[in-house]
Amino acid sequence: MKERILIADDDPGIRDGCAQVLQRGGSIVSEASTGSETMALLERYEFDLILLDLKFPDANGLDLLRSIRERDQEVPIVMITAYGTIQNAVEAMRLGANDFLPKPFEPDELRLVVGRTIRARRLAIENIYLKEELRRKEGEIQIIGQSEPLLYLFEQVKRLAQTDSTVLITGESGTGKGLLARYIHETSGRSAHPFISVDCSTLVPSLFESELFGHVKGAFTGAESNKLGKFELASGGTLFLDEIANISLELQAKLLKAVEEKEISRVGSHRLTQVDVRIIAATNQDLKQAVKKGAFREDLYFRLNVVALKTPPLRERKDDIPLLARHFLKRYGQKYQRQGLGITPKAMEMLCRYHWPGNVRELENTIERLVIFAKDLSLDVEDLETAGLQVERTPNLHRADERRTEDSTWSMSLEDVEREHIVAVLNHTGGNRSEAARILGIDRKTLRLKLKRWGLE
Ligand SMILES: Nc1ncnc2c1ncn2[C@@H]1O[C@H](COP(=O)(O)OP(=O)(O)OP(=O)(O)O)[C@@H](O)[C@H]1O
Ligand SMILES: [Mg+2]
Repeated sequence: MKERILIADDDPGIRDGCAQVLQRGGSIVSEASTGSETMALLERYEFDLILLDLKFPDANGLDLLRSIRERDQEVPIVMITAYGTIQNAVEAMRLGANDFLPKPFEPDELRLVVGRTIRARRLAIENIYLKEELRRKEGEIQIIGQSEPLLYLFEQVKRLAQTDSTVLITGESGTGKGLLARYIHETSGRSAHPFISVDCSTLVPSLFESELFGHVKGAFTGAESNKLGKFELASGGTLFLDEIANISLELQAKLLKAVEEKEISRVGSHRLTQVDVRIIAATNQDLKQAVKKGAFREDLYFRLNVVALKTPPLRERKDDIPLLARHFLKRYGQKYQRQGLGITPKAMEMLCRYHWPGNVRELENTIERLVIFAKDLSLDVEDLETAGLQVERTPNLHRADERRTEDSTWSMSLEDVEREHIVAVLNHTGGNRSEAARILGIDRKTLRLKLKRWGLE
């Protein structure tokens, strides 16, 4: 990415010299020869670095530095000082300059200081997301699975890795939408830049706009200094808009503009800033339905839905359950210092049979609890029950089949069979009674009465 640099110096020789060196290095350079020109340019553009002289015909460099810092605490400032008393430099640093460059200087020195300052600035931004980075190092961005639906998903992801297309991920809760978004970022050409995530469902609506686009000092009560929004923080990288269905129509309009034009303005400012971000949005709701109901803008939906990915529910890829279970067993075994835990085939079968309405997240939480409660190295059916998994206690069709091969099952009454079948269907629908009643061909009320009679309410 090209950085935009402001050279503020009253000496045209210095300005030309610096401009030449920096432009050759690929930077975009603006020049100011007075204090008022400097402030005027700051109103117009967002700079990545300011080279600031200590003396102007109309202003003192230190006063200018103070004014710049009042309105923007983040932009890096390097002081150029010929009147190089150490005193001035110390004072400048105290007022918030990042570095200083004593006149006269060689092109190499200029390049060095500018490069160092810009890198430090990028690092600072990325440090905010160090936690994210750490998760990555811990190998959390690993999508486990070899089932048909997952291989299909990998295939799609591979194809879009080298593009900048906007992606919309849909899928039930806990199916790995967040994980997939990070994975796409990691496998893209943007992986060296930040991955910034915004949870649209937890943000206070009134602060949401400033969260996304940033604000300038004084834009509203409490806006005590300039603040970068997520769009700018994600610069060069990926912006993940999670739970996108949850934003107001008013914000949708603003978001549409930002997505369409890749241009934003901070709250309280009319200045437009170019942003270079790839957008990935996710939702567990049916956005098309939301569009029909008028709760979601159709134009924004089309803008986001350039590439549509769907994370399959765990019950549609049961082949992956053993892989995932072992993966989580290893991870939580390490976390809780209980390495070497295994699962008996019976217990594994039980995991595979369960319906997992909470998908991978529920499986992960279950395994974590199992690891914490494990009494010995081999986890069995009882351990699953202790961890709260309720498969075995409510027998399902599969078990009835098994039992029927035994002599005793031939003594089952019609009601026994009915009960087992109903429980099996309920397992299949993840406890959804309306759906179960539909499959069983009875109404909800009848179903409820039966369950009540059997004490299964
Ligand atoms: N295929 C997978 N391999 C390994 N871990 C996975 C996989 N899918 C999901 N997970 C893990 O399951 C948990 C839930 O995933 P994630 O938060 O990405 O789901 P989500 O679809 O975003 O859910 P929600 O809609 O509730 O936000 C995370 O801890 C994630 O790391
Ligand atoms: Mg999520």
